[in-house]
Amino acid sequence: MECCVIGTGYVGLVTGACLADMGNSVICVDRDNLKINKLSKGEIPIFEAGLEAIVTRCLKSGKLKFTTSTKEAVHVSTLIFITVDTPSDYQGYADLTHVDEVAGDIASVMNGYKIIINKSTVPVGTTRRVERVIEESLKEYHEFDVISNPEFLREGTAVSDFMKPARIVIGSGSQKAIMMMTDLYRKMNAPLLITDPVSAEMIKYASNAFLATKVSYINAIANICEVVGADVREVSLGMGYDERIGFEFLRAGPGFGGSCFPKDCRALLRIAGDYGYNFKLLEGVMDVNREQQLRTVDKIKRMAGGFDGKKIGVLGLAFKANTDDIRESPAVNIVSMVLSGGAEVSVYDPEAMENASEFIPEAKFAGDAYEVAAQADILVLLTEWDEFKWLDYTRIKELMNSPVLLDARNCLDPAVLRKIGYTYEGVGR
Ligand code: UGA
Repeated sequence: MECCVIGTGYVGLVTGACLADMGNSVICVDRDNLKINKLSKGEIPIFEAGLEAIVTRCLKSGKLKFTTSTKEAVHVSTLIFITVDTPSDYQGYADLTHVDEVAGDIASVMNGYKIIINKSTVPVGTTRRVERVIEESLKEYHEFDVISNPEFLREGTAVSDFMKPARIVIGSGSQKAIMMMTDLYRKMNAPLLITDPVSAEMIKYASNAFLATKVSYINAIANICEVVGADVREVSLGMGYDERIGFEFLRAGPGFGGSCFPKDCRALLRIAGDYGYNFKLLEGVMDVNREQQLRTVDKIKRMAGGFDGKKIGVLGLAFKANTDDIRESPAVNIVSMVLSGGAEVSVYDPEAMENASEFIPEAKFAGDAYEVAAQADILVLLTEWDEFKWLDYTRIKELMNSPVLLDARNCLDPAVLRKIGYTYEGVGR
């Protein structure tokens, strides 16, 4: 099928590349000339496992193209995916400026029947809003359908999430659009939920907010575990065996971050408020998340014996492992608070150093984990990169000023570290 994808961020790029790899002809559009030039040469601006290989393969086969021209892309495509960002505005609402602009651009160059597919996370009612923008901006009459088809990709595993989705949600009242979308996804072995656009939009927010709730719930349980002397990892395991609960998203840590959970929780809270519902549960989820970061800072301070004149070594800056993304990263927030407290902070992350440098310029950016540990009064593990699990902790102990370790992701073995001679603390254990 002929597809175009407007917006080449994480979602757009993964969607475009994967659709092309499935055999569709795809043109990805972005206003950023430099980005499009690089992408046309197979240079990927983000770190995402498997993506580069797919882009290279599809560029070579001619199935994937990049352009700055919406007109060129829309003219040859029937399926038009909108994958632009919807950042939080100052009140917590999703800012739809980019979605509106793209809808207007599409309308102004439409040359026949088009299905406009909203993949961005947008407030309830946006499908209708995009329909209106298109109706108002059309230069001449053309039949079109706007549908909601939310994405559920996770950074770091986005390619496999796209290719093997847990479900596909299509929100539309148009039989024609539903038939074409069903055809597009027919090779995927996943449940297909066809519903109305408003429910599809709600499914996306409700899913992300629920996952965020699980994370805050287990973090709250971890905090109780710490005082009663239980181990939250055992508790999560014991809970997870119950299929109604499941094992996923029950890892305690420094709180959730990223470009989705915090923004989507804020937006859902706003949506609920606008319709007269006080979503206290979600407020609690966000409060626990804020407190979790503050608790981590307090723990570092206590374990280091204060901040003044102390050297804090930090492993990890990305909001989670396997990504270079630091948007709303608990690690970056925590480093920032520790720096404000007056400590000297040395940091290392395998992929996110460049992105983090402008937000924590006072930190010392080290070449590796061992450089971070040198003369440190405490080592704090904030992102669960695999390579941090396999460091030579005996060597690290020798390098440190004092062998104190806070494992804020519970990815190390306390018994082994204590045996080496560390004062070890995790989260909820
Ligand atoms: C999330 C959802 O998982 C995707 O399904 C969704 O498509 C995406 O948002 C989106 O809306 O675009 P993502 O933000 O990439 O994906 O990251 P997650 O893997 O969900 O992690 C979010 C945060 O929760 C991270 O900071 C992570 O460290 C934290 N987390 C997650 C925990 O602290 N504990 C857990 O057990 C799981």
